[in-house]
Amino acid sequence: MRTTITVPAYAKINLGLRVLGKRPDGFHELRTVFQTISLADRLTITYTPATRTVITVEGMPDVPDNLAARAAQAVLTELNLEAAVQIHIEKRIPMGAGLGGGSSDAAAVLQALPALASCPIPMPRLFQLAVPLGSDVPFFLLGGTALGLGRGEELYPLQDLPPIQGVLITPDIHVSTPDAYRALSLTLTDPATKLASFQESVRRPLLEPLVNDFESVVFAQHPQLAAIKDSLLRQGANQALMSGSGSSVFAFFRTAGEASKVDTPDLIRFQFIPRT
Ligand code: C5P
Repeated sequence: MRTTITVPAYAKINLGLRVLGKRPDGFHELRTVFQTISLADRLTITYTPATRTVITVEGMPDVPDNLAARAAQAVLTELNLEAAVQIHIEKRIPMGAGLGGGSSDAAAVLQALPALASCPIPMPRLFQLAVPLGSDVPFFLLGGTALGLGRGEELYPLQDLPPIQGVLITPDIHVSTPDAYRALSLTLTDPATKLASFQESVRRPLLEPLVNDFESVVFAQHPQLAAIKDSLLRQGANQALMSGSGSSVFAFFRTAGEASKVDTPDLIRFQFIPRT
């Protein structure tokens, strides 16, 4: 029987991102706080049992190796099922912007498809299926506010933060995450100081200045991003930070009045989405 569901896939921002060093497996050891925000893609997933598996992704530009399709294949393989799976993605989260859009779409498929097939997969196993899809995918199974360690896949849920009026600028710049890590690797120093200031920022959420280690290398390549951050701070933001490896920059303001006055091209207003 054919079943279908429409679900949101929220974007994330990083409330601080420290890169401590390169690990023997080639990935980098991170300390970050992930936060889901109200900007979201919308996925409509249709599942029809079949004798041969066909997975299609529609509604967004063709990307090689679409993560949502890989997530669907991972679920079918896990459940030993053959099916036609249609995934329609109404794309609202800009790609290559450090907002985890592709990872969030993949996590939405991991959660929805077992329900559509009436074959639940236990949460710990879903986390195992998420890791090979991408370092951010496990976080999106959790959502809300979470501390991320390791590659970002070792997660510790944190208390929900108070509601906030956030603004997000998404310039038309696509940053390649592997390239950003490579550039950053050459500049890495002093994990002890980074750890101390990161721990303080987790202990006093949003009261300490947030730091993203990618800013220096990505801003050097794209000076317009540094200009956006400066402009947000000059307009009264109490925090302004690039998300992930860029290129989006978010900012928080002390009052809704201040936030409503911000006037910058490509602006998106958002709230935090708590864990469900
Ligand atoms: O895991 P994901 O596919 O999102 O990572 C993309 C690339 O970013 C990796 O292939 C790796 O080059 C880099 N990366 C890293 N350390 C991390 C996460 C990602 O070096 N913790």
